[in-house]
Amino acid sequence: MNAVDDKPVIDNGNPRHIAIIMDGNGRWAQKRLMPRIMGHHAGVKAVRKIVEFCAKENIEVLSLFAFSSENWRRPKDEVSLLMELFMSTLQAEVDKLDRNNIRLKIIGDKTAFNDKLQDKIRSAEAQTANNTGLTLLIAANYGGRWDIANAIRQIVAGIKAGTIDEQEISEDLVERYLQTAGLPEPDLFIRTGGEERVSNFLLWQLAYTEFYFTDALWPDFDHNALQQAIGSFKRRQRRFGHTGEQVVAGRVV
Ligand code: IPE
Ligand code: IPE
Ligand code: MG
Repeated sequence: MNAVDDKPVIDNGNPRHIAIIMDGNGRWAQKRLMPRIMGHHAGVKAVRKIVEFCAKENIEVLSLFAFSSENWRRPKDEVSLLMELFMSTLQAEVDKLDRNNIRLKIIGDKTAFNDKLQDKIRSAEAQTANNTGLTLLIAANYGGRWDIANAIRQIVAGIKAGTIDEQEISEDLVERYLQTAGLPEPDLFIRTGGEERVSNFLLWQLAYTEFYFTDALWPDFDHNALQQAIGSFKRRQRRFGHTGEQVVAGRVV
């Protein structure tokens, strides 16, 4: 109990899965009169630090939105520079991730990427596949609606092929065909950059996630800022449809 107001002290512990929309790179650069791509470069540095922190804190899954299915709408130059940055970062970081026991997975529609990038993704995933520390999910050409549509497509194919019975369709079955199959749902969702929207990130998976928005631009988001977000998460009462009294009494399953 809290000595001041007798309210039960809530401590959810660390989130198992943190999902982040890393927004604000472009504005970070523009504020410094630099081209937007410099903001993306600075964003990669922030990613490195946040990944290190999550690995050290024994977070199980960190999902980062790197490129949305809608980001193709940006100027051609920015899109191709982003692709180059994605490729060079993968190349430069995979050995370090591997040494740190981090398992890397890229989620999204990878068929849109050029062959070289697709090969690099496959080999980076294979190299780290048996690691048992942090699972790092990078969402690239990802859209939450695409994820659900893609699951439906596979389930319908399974029904046609006779490997899935129509009667089996359930929330659990759908989950097994999503890009996040087998992973815990996000406990904490963070969006930097001041916008308060989901922008087609993990739509299905965010059903019961705690949301945290901050004005900090992504390149400025550091381990202190993350610690603050985690602190906010820890103090929230997660009810999952129960009453607060049920949660306090521990009758929640
Ligand atoms: C997020 O930063 C990174 C990507 C979408 C690739 P933005 O590029 O969206 O930055 P702002 O929102 O324009 O500041
Ligand atoms: C969302 O950011 C996607 C990523 C961070 C990769 P955007 O900057 O593209 O989102 P909107 O367009 O402002 O909603
Ligand atoms: Mg943005």
